[in-house]
Amino acid sequence: MDAPRKILTVFGTRPEAIKLFPLIHALDADPRFVSRVAVSGQHRGMLDQVLQIADITPHHDLAVMQPNQTLDALTANLLIGLGKVMDQERPDWVIVQGDTATAMAGGLAAYYRQIPVAHVEAGLRSGNIYHPWPEEVNRKIVGSFAALHFAPTQTAANALLRENVAADTVHVTGNTVIDALHWVTDKIKREPDLASGLTELERRFAGKRIIGMTSHRRENFGEGLEAIASAVTRLAARPDVAVIFPVHLNPNVRAVMNQRLAGFDNIALIEPLDYPHFARLIAISDIMLTDSGGVQEEAPALGKPVLVMRETTERPEGVVAGTAKLVGTDADTIVAEAERLLDSATAYGAMARAHNPFGDGQASERIVNLLAR
Ligand code: UD1
Ligand code: UDP
Repeated sequence: MDAPRKILTVFGTRPEAIKLFPLIHALDADPRFVSRVAVSGQHRGMLDQVLQIADITPHHDLAVMQPNQTLDALTANLLIGLGKVMDQERPDWVIVQGDTATAMAGGLAAYYRQIPVAHVEAGLRSGNIYHPWPEEVNRKIVGSFAALHFAPTQTAANALLRENVAADTVHVTGNTVIDALHWVTDKIKREPDLASGLTELERRFAGKRIIGMTSHRRENFGEGLEAIASAVTRLAARPDVAVIFPVHLNPNVRAVMNQRLAGFDNIALIEPLDYPHFARLIAISDIMLTDSGGVQEEAPALGKPVLVMRETTERPEGVVAGTAKLVGTDADTIVAEAERLLDSATAYGAMARAHNPFGDGQASERIVNLLAR
């Protein structure tokens, strides 16, 4: 048997951790690999919530997060810190996921050392470098040097092929977020207490239609977040509606939302939920209202209509399938689209269909087998 390949998986934020833990579990269990994990600590509390539930203890933790960090300082710290880890570990492959600053800088540090990079969730493109910002460009940068591109869907693979990426380096694997969702759903079935923390809210809002909400995008800061907050107060003024909103720890988000949404009877502003509780929130919600990438993928899998507060999306599959709708950040449009779902059973029924355009839960297994080739 060949010597095991040393894989260094690098990540730093909540969504990367969620989408990589199933792959790390698979690498850990596979004798063909030596699996090492480096977290940048771009996020702290929200990252640690995932590490804890997935039972992952990183071999390296750079703890780079600064309060209200800027993109340039963050990127500089990531590049230098992750480069040092790579010099120490000297892996055969570096894995990065998605489109964050950690993915971009981690990939670049590997490229500078001529270590091949495997890109998980490759090929998503909105076609607009400011939506999502800066993620569209981060993802393209990783795509420009990755040696293996794991595209979640054929649409994503096609985008890479259109950019002349070598076809034999592009593989459609499904999105590992569906692996994560299956894992957490099974875990909750076995240990229901892991997701029982919303019971009090469920009682308080019994009989109401629940809107589960998240919002954090940098391109929405300022006017966009103000408009989102105003839409939410209008929706929650209806006696038949309640909004449950775990607020992202980014101080730019918290300042607006705490100022605009605190103190309403039908709005629960809560702390970021760990993954089992967030899966529970999707399950008890009638509608998801979000600007998140990951939530656009999870809600369709759980049959929940998702209104996406973005002008465009690099995840068109949910929109094409009819469970996701782009509503932008105009308050009137958000309210009108949410009310259409609240007031028309036909409109609601047309969107509330469980299906999986993003994956089948086997993505990590496919990726591991491709890495072993
Ligand atoms: C980052 C990613 C974004 C991803 C999002 C997921 C970049 C450029 N942005 O955006 O692509 O969609 O994560 O949530 O990579 N903070 C905490 N504790 C935490 C996390 C954040 O206090 O656990 C606060 C800090 O003040 C930090 C700020 O939030 O400086 C911003 O964090 P940062 O990772 O730069 O940006 P996000 O908006 O979270
Ligand atoms: N999520 C979570 N707790 C929360 C909000 C979101 O666990 O309070 C999960 C969600 O299920 C999804 C991921 O975090 O898998 C999305 O992360 P985020 O919205 O921060 O980033 P994005 O996906 O937009 O990059």
